[in-house]
Parts: sequence; C-alpha cells; structure tokens
Amino acid sequence: MVFGSLLDCGANMRVLVTGCDGYIGSRLAPRLLQAGHTVQGIDTGFYRSGWLYEPRAPFPSIHTSDVRDLAPSNLMGFDAVVHLAELSNDPLGQLDPDITEKVNHRGSCQLALKARDAGVSRFIYASSCSVYGAGTGDWKDENSPPDPRTAYAQCKVDVERDVLGLMDERFAPIFLRNATVFGPSPRMRFDLVLNNLAGLAWTERAIRLTSDGSPWRPLVHVADVVEAILAMLTADRDAVAGETFNVGSTEQNYQVRDIADVVADAFPGCEFSVGPSNGDDRSYRVKFDKLAERIPTFRCQWSIERGAAELRELFARINLTTEQFQGRHHTRLLQLKHLLQTGQLRPDLYWAVDAIA
Ligand SMILES: NC(=O)c1ccc[n+]([C@@H]2O[C@H](COP(=O)([O-])OP(=O)(O)OC[C@H]3O[C@@H](n4cnc5c(N)ncnc54)[C@H](O)[C@@H]3O)[C@@H](O)[C@H]2O)c1
Repeated sequence: MVFGSLLDCGANMRVLVTGCDGYIGSRLAPRLLQAGHTVQGIDTGFYRSGWLYEPRAPFPSIHTSDVRDLAPSNLMGFDAVVHLAELSNDPLGQLDPDITEKVNHRGSCQLALKARDAGVSRFIYASSCSVYGAGTGDWKDENSPPDPRTAYAQCKVDVERDVLGLMDERFAPIFLRNATVFGPSPRMRFDLVLNNLAGLAWTERAIRLTSDGSPWRPLVHVADVVEAILAMLTADRDAVAGETFNVGSTEQNYQVRDIADVVADAFPGCEFSVGPSNGDDRSYRVKFDKLAERIPTFRCQWSIERGAAELRELFARINLTTEQFQGRHHTRLLQLKHLLQTGQLRPDLYWAVDAIA
C-alpha cells in the first residue's frame, strides 16, 4: 500500500484521516479538500453500508484497511494524521472491553508511534468528554481529573496519556475531547442523543425519553467539530502541541429533557414523555473556554435549535423512513453486532471474508 502518489503539489497539507467513512469523517474529508488540503482516507468499513444521503461534495479516496495493519511506510509523506478510527461510543466499547482496549487504546497508540516514526508532525486525536464520567452535573474543564466509567472512556484517557508521551520537537499530538455530536452526516448516526430524538420525532411523531431526562450533556454540531479539527491542523504549534481541548461551547450544556424540548419545538405536534431514571449515571457540564482562548478565530456556529431544524429539513428532503431510522445501518452497536453474528467479522474485529457488508 503506497500513498506517495497522492502528495499533490499546491495543497496546504497532506492529511491522512482514519475513520474517514464514519459519521465525523464523512463530514471532515470533503471540508479538508475544500480548504485545499490533500486527503487520503483509511477505514475498515464497518458502517460503509449506512449511506443516508448524497453529500454533493467531492470525496477523497478511501483505502480499506484496519489501522492496526498500517506500517510506518504507509504514513510517510503525510504532514498530519487525524485519527477518528475507533469503536466510537460507550455501549460499543462495552461489547467486549478487551477488544476495545486492543482497537482503541493499543491500536491508537501504535498508530501514533508509527506516525511519529514516519515523520508526521501533527497527530490530532478524537477524544471525548466521556472521560469526565459520572459526576453530579458539576463543571469540568481540561484540568478536572478524568473519571472514566466505561472501557471506551478509559481507553480515551489511556490514549491521551500514552500518546502525549510520544511528543518530541517534531511530533505534536493534540487531543480533542468532543462533546456529544449532533447534525447530519451522509454516514448518519442515530445513536447520538439529538439525532435520535429528532429521528423519533420525525418517524413516530413522538419523543419518548428512556430516562428521566435529568443528566447534563454538552452538545456540539458536527460542522463545528470539523472546523475545530481544521483549525488544529494549521494552528501555531506552540499553542496546541501536547494540549487537550474540550470541543464545544460552554453555553451548550443541556439536560437531556431540554434537548427533547428543543426537538419538540422543531417537530411540532409530537407527543412528549419522560421515563424513569435508566441508571445511566453520566452527568457532567463542561467548560470550553480553553479552545476559544488558544484559537481565537474558532467559535461554535451551531445551536441545537438550528441543528434540530436542519435535521427536520433533511428528513423531509430524503423522506426518512422508520426502517432507515430504526435499522442497523445508522446505529453503531446494531451494525457491529450484525457483522459479528453473521460471521462477517471475527471476534477480533478483523473481516472474516473480503466482502464488506
Ligand atoms: N460522534 C460523537 O458524538 C463523538 C463524540 C466524542 C468523540 N467521538 C470520537 O470521534 C471519533 C469518530 O466518531 P464517529 O462518530 O465518526 O464514529 P463512527 O463510528 O461513525 O466512525 C468511526 C469509523 O472508524 C472506523 N474504524 C473503527 N475501527 C477501525 C479500525 N480498527 N481500523 C480502521 N477503521 C476503523 C469505522 O469503520 C468507522 O467508519 C471516534 O474516535 C469517537 O470516539 C465521537
């Protein structure tokens, strides 16, 4: 696998995006191209069948590969790696914590080491506000001690620590702790709170919370996550190297029932109900001031009100069906379980056959 031929002249930076086929990757890659960067995608293709709409934007080429199989030679010639390829939420990580450790922790650290050996100068890692753990709704910033409650969150903490240890005068890792993301992507995820509530509102004309709606969550639009990554690629090294940033905005911390209210406003005529507490004890409010201080040009542009209205327009345009919303293609846990149960994926999450479902 040689990517050297992709190193165009005239592009700003040569960027390798892992997880390019995913929810964030499918929004990030076209935006990087639009900004003049040369982009190569890598993805094993777990969710490639989940294509919700045509994005109307050029896409880079995506090489089908597991990041665990990349060699340093595959990473040569790139200025930056944006690393999104992991098992991407808490329930997925709980499926098999040992595999989560192998893919998310070990896989990411090995990738970072190979990138450093290959001369890559910037490594942008998609971490998560999940590292803040349970909490009682108290405020967290980058200096708050992490309190990981799941294998997924623990791996994020471990990757941040270990990859930071690889930093040298050339290799600059940057850790972006994203809030829970919302908004449209061609490889849509309906397992994210706002996207899920909007999908329910559209397909069932009902918003039923499976919890009492009291936990706090910070939210961020996928386009704002993309802009934050873009800003990190070209930010002054001294401002960002080895740094951790919460990605979102301090005003956008919500209790889940407030998110439901906003969705109900965007989808008029829905029934609205809350359930009993579902035992999910994650509740945290997050401060995002550091990002705004270090990157003064960056500000989140999207509110959840605007995001919910945008989703309603999208669902109307594509006529979103219950099958699309409830099916496995846009819910990470369902798709991964399907691939495992049908023997297409081996328990170690390598493909059993060449065909990708
Ligand atoms: N979406 C969110 O709300 C959110 C919030 C915080 C952090 N993050 C992090 O951002 C990153 C991207 O999230 P997303 O929502 O786009 O997830 P996603 O599941 O949609 O995308 C992840 C992509 O990585 C690929 N992948 C997984 N393991 C791989 C491997 N071993 N080799 C190659 N490809 C592999 C998958 O096929 C998928 O296309 C993840 O690390 C996630 O933990 C996401």
